[in-house]
Amino acid sequence: MSEEEHKLTTPQFQKEDRGFENTLRPSKMTEFIGQEKIKQRLEIFVQAARERGDPLDHTLLYGPPGLGKTTLAHIIAHEMGGNIYSTSGPSIDRPGELAKILTNTQLQDKDTLFIDEIHRLHPQAEEVLYSAMEDFKVDIILGKGASIRSVKIPLSHFTLIGATTRAGLLTSPLRNRFGVTSHLDYYSEDELFFIVIRSSSILEITIDEGGAKEIAKRARGTPRVANRILRRVRDFAQIKGEGVITEEIARKALNILEIDKKGLDAMDRKILQAILYKFGGGPVGIKTLSMAVNEEPETIEEVYEPYLIREGLINRTPKGRVATPLLYEYLNETPPFSLQQKLSF
Ligand SMILES: Nc1ncnc2c1ncn2[C@@H]1O[C@H](COP(=O)(O)OP(=O)(O)OP(=O)(O)O)[C@@H](O)[C@H]1O
Ligand SMILES: [Mg+2]
Repeated sequence: MSEEEHKLTTPQFQKEDRGFENTLRPSKMTEFIGQEKIKQRLEIFVQAARERGDPLDHTLLYGPPGLGKTTLAHIIAHEMGGNIYSTSGPSIDRPGELAKILTNTQLQDKDTLFIDEIHRLHPQAEEVLYSAMEDFKVDIILGKGASIRSVKIPLSHFTLIGATTRAGLLTSPLRNRFGVTSHLDYYSEDELFFIVIRSSSILEITIDEGGAKEIAKRARGTPRVANRILRRVRDFAQIKGEGVITEEIARKALNILEIDKKGLDAMDRKILQAILYKFGGGPVGIKTLSMAVNEEPETIEEVYEPYLIREGLINRTPKGRVATPLLYEYLNETPPFSLQQKLSF
């Protein structure tokens, strides 16, 4: 698989997404498509907080890459009527730095501090957050030696929004300090359809219903991937078609790009084939699997696996990853007798 193809379907942010992400990013709750339950809850919380004149409870957004965590954080901040300051776990390398951000930024009441990849926060920086979240205070150590003392600095009543692709890696003291936790899940085909239509109209791309459906079907449940595929298919339509994205053009382009009907790409297939053919259907541990397909274990766990599990192609068991009957079907193989029996019960 070429680097090029891999980049097309990976839900993680790529350089080529730069300019487009901001243009295509919904800025109001009403423009944000899908995730209905999360939206409804957040709208109520935001309205209630505003009516009371309180800050919104600290909010944790988690879910796979490209599903709209950053987008939602900006929308929430906007609907609270405040400003947003963004930083990320890995960019804060000392606890003092977080204290500095909290005290130096012009954080006002009802403003939002957005910490992306919050699971990668340094443990000591995390401790600074505890009192900031709970009491809106930070402890700062002043002086040296015998004259060392700690001073509590009061903060504005801000809202912390944390985003993570790995909620499981958050420590429980941190997790418990969030009043609201929202899990973003993959989008349905219908929702992605509307996202493709919306993006096409912003980018002035001519697309028909069939074309949009075809892209939605193969975007592995992820708006970022849908938007990226849309741009590639537009190039194809311009060169090979009449500049209009029809179902036929979309299908041809996606076939050339090696994205199959389930939205799986070459790396997904490599993982699935390894599980079935190299490891006899599993169970296979993540490290062994990662060596077999030559990809980082973290990337497999964060990027590939969640979608393959959601599609029902593999299962995660305490002993490792295992093939499901659907995986056998997908690779045109007959499931072993034991799996067939499971199916008939
Ligand atoms: N619900 C939505 N409706 C329309 N477009 C969306 C929606 N969610 C995401 N997008 C589009 O997908 C892009 C990626 O979303 P976003 O950057 O918010 O994802 P993320 O969850 O923060 O990803 P990461 O984990 O990589 O930080 C956005 O620029 C936006 O164009
Ligand atoms: Mg993000």
